[in-house]
Amino acid sequence: MTLRRRGVLLAGLATLAAPARAEGGPLVQVWRDPNCGCCHLWMPHLRTAGFGVQDNVTRSLAGWRRSFGVPSDLLSCHVARVEGFALEGHVPPLAIRRLLTERPAGVRGLAVPGMPIGSPGMEVPGAAPEAYDVIAFGTGPHRVFMRFVGGDPA
Ligand code: CU
Ligand code: CU
Repeated sequence: MTLRRRGVLLAGLATLAAPARAEGGPLVQVWRDPNCGCCHLWMPHLRTAGFGVQDNVTRSLAGWRRSFGVPSDLLSCHVARVEGFALEGHVPPLAIRRLLTERPAGVRGLAVPGMPIGSPGMEVPGAAPEAYDVIAFGTGPHRVFMRFVGGDPA
């Protein structure tokens, strides 16, 4: 094989090896249940916002939640991880960006408990989006990190 051919081949392999980061932004690793109808709808919002997405389908989320430190009173339908932070539920990409920029002391992650109508991936045609809080959790008490109506900050 000529050197030139080899270079072309290696370049091709490198492209194959890095699909998760094709978007160029921080990688969000998602763990979701195969039977959930809304989790996969959250992921396009992340991609549109410039995040890389790695999709992990599993029947047991509890272990992942425990290892990421997601409090049991903030549960939603899926759990994710980005740059060492935990994400629970349909967290808007804007809130994730702010978390990664500010990296507030003591915060382990963000959660949108339940599944508010209108949160990213939970849009229901004809239904008015709900107001909901993005909660920061970690070493201190939970606190409201941001407030949204649908995908927009309130
Ligand atoms: Cu959901
Ligand atoms: Cu979900």
